[in-house]
Amino acid sequence: MAYEIGAAVEKFTHPFSRHGYAMGFLDSNLGLVPAEAVTRMLRTNDQFFYNLQASIMRAPIRCGQNLSLSREKPMSRTTIERAKRQSIVDACRQMNQLGINQGTSGNISLRHEDGMLITPTSTPYETMKPSQIVFMKLDGSLDAKQRPSSEWRFHRDIFEARAEVNAVVHAHPPYATILAIMGLAIPPIHYMIACAGGDTIRCAPYATFGTEELSQHAVTALADRSACLLAHHGMIAIAPSLSKAMWLAVEVETLARQYHGCLQIGKPPVLSKEEIEKVRLRMAGYGPADK
Ligand code: 13P
Repeated sequence: MAYEIGAAVEKFTHPFSRHGYAMGFLDSNLGLVPAEAVTRMLRTNDQFFYNLQASIMRAPIRCGQNLSLSREKPMSRTTIERAKRQSIVDACRQMNQLGINQGTSGNISLRHEDGMLITPTSTPYETMKPSQIVFMKLDGSLDAKQRPSSEWRFHRDIFEARAEVNAVVHAHPPYATILAIMGLAIPPIHYMIACAGGDTIRCAPYATFGTEELSQHAVTALADRSACLLAHHGMIAIAPSLSKAMWLAVEVETLARQYHGCLQIGKPPVLSKEEIEKVRLRMAGYGPADK
């Protein structure tokens, strides 16, 4: 099968790419290829290769060339798991570089088979290795030698409650956390709030980190939403893909910063529930790919 790739492989123009984080690539044949689907990237001189997870295809694609690519056998379970572990480590580092988290705060998980892959507790992201990512079944069982994030409960409970969710990002972004300390939900000050599924981003009541109580508060605050604040704590963003959850985490922090700025001047005017619903429907599928 011949694919003309052309020069259309370019960084997806998303705010993340300004920080060197490629959310995905525009490919003239495949459309938007999410970064998570890319298992290996190589840049040599002016040639650009990438290997795709291969429910799509696995042969390297060469920018600017016509190539004959044959469909290969699907990636093995081990390869898929390895790619997921690496994408979690990459996203953790990115989260701190983007300024939406700091130190060893925050945690990230991806749904995997009958459980989830989740960051280890209290581990600096710069030195975190894919092998340290913990696999935990949704019943909470795991290899006793593993040390999952102290917040594994809300990650697990979100995956159980929300079948459409495959990625959970928890961070302590400065502005979202300022609002959460003040117990403030984000109101519809900007139409982009619709990205989080409705006209508010709720703030879940405070409960001690790592507890079942916190998990219950989080799942409730996330009802019909894909983001919430956690009082005196931080923020959670959830999505069908890790790229989308990371994108949403940045959008939530931006909204929090805008709301914080407005509050310096006075009580901001807000958009109506009806307008946000209109925007939400128009925005269906907006942002990085769900897969
Ligand atoms: P972990 O290091 O255990 O993931 O905890 C960080 C955190 O943010 C707890 O809310």
